[in-house]
Amino acid sequence: MDSYYDVIIVGSGMAGLYAAVQVRKLCPDLTCIVIERNQLFGGKAYEHRFENTDVVTGAGIGRKNKDKLLLKLMREFQIPIHFFETEHKYSDLIHPPCDVKSTFALLKRTYESENHTNKIRTTFKAYATAVLGEASYEHFILCAGYSDYEQADAHDTLYHYNFDDNYNKWTGFSVPWKALVDKMVHSLGHMQVVIVNNTEVTKIHNMTDDVFEVVLASSGRVIPVAREQSILAALISHGIDLTFSCEQGVCGTCLTNVLEGTPDHRDMYLTPEEQSANDKMLDCCSRAKSSRLVLEL
Ligand SMILES: Cc1cc2nc3c(=O)[nH]c(=O)nc-3n(C[C@H](O)[C@H](O)[C@H](O)COP(=O)(O)OP(=O)(O)OC[C@H]3O[C@@H](n4cnc5c(N)ncnc54)[C@H](O)[C@@H]3O)c2cc1C
Ligand code: FES
Repeated sequence: MDSYYDVIIVGSGMAGLYAAVQVRKLCPDLTCIVIERNQLFGGKAYEHRFENTDVVTGAGIGRKNKDKLLLKLMREFQIPIHFFETEHKYSDLIHPPCDVKSTFALLKRTYESENHTNKIRTTFKAYATAVLGEASYEHFILCAGYSDYEQADAHDTLYHYNFDDNYNKWTGFSVPWKALVDKMVHSLGHMQVVIVNNTEVTKIHNMTDDVFEVVLASSGRVIPVAREQSILAALISHGIDLTFSCEQGVCGTCLTNVLEGTPDHRDMYLTPEEQSANDKMLDCCSRAKSSRLVLEL
């Protein structure tokens, strides 16, 4: 593929298609390509299996008080919306009764008091089990109604998942995902937005990435870091031992102090304030804005 596009979107799931719709709407002059590795558009919204259960393709529900963006999108594409109230039959089966929302609030409060500064990253299940105990955690999951966030990052689940409560009554609406996907794809047309399927993106080369060098403060050794190499990989290839784990800038294991130079932070571990201090960085994913970094190694 040797064409040039202003915006390149990888994946045509709901997120990718929504991004393309927004690009088209907000910046109609930009050219955009959506690249999808499967034959169908729509990603998970077109899958048949969910948590080992066969379901109608594209079946799904939204929640009136939570999925406001989804509601807006359905209205925008003139998809009829049918609201329904949930029954309390499910909750009546569970004894003792539980208050999912206040348990979730307790988990958040505990997280804030314990982990705010040292940012222990772990799964939601591991974190909540440690706080609530095994039996109470199992009861909480049963009451909450489903468990797809159990293996997700604890911080993400607490602050970004938009946690649901199936125990109490709520107002839902059915989402015809297939119709929604088809309308979104159709609306993009092929003028400014090109969508291709059956094409897997295997590598993304950042054109702004440049070679730079890392100086080890303890020995003065200079290690070059190539365009498509991480600092961690460059150090390891020169026989330097560094502790690491996730290699994605999430766990914080490879945190290193920066004595000189400006890092190009690409991690999800440091806060924006910590990143702008430029005195530490994650070697597994971050790079350099300056041609030289002196690290406390
Ligand atoms: C059976 C089922 C029922 C569900 N029910 C509900 C529900 O009731 N309510 C609700 O709100 N949500 C529901 N969900 C969840 C919802 O469908 C998903 O959260 C949502 O579709 C995720 O969209 P996404 O775009 O983030 O990711 P995905 O749908 O996973 O899309 C990612 C796309 O990127 C493509 N891709 C990935 N890597 C590459 C690459 N390297 N190159 C090219 N393409 C690539 C993939 O093929 C995929 O098409 C359900 C999901 C399933 C499977
Ligand atoms: S190894 Fe996990 S952040 Fe670098």
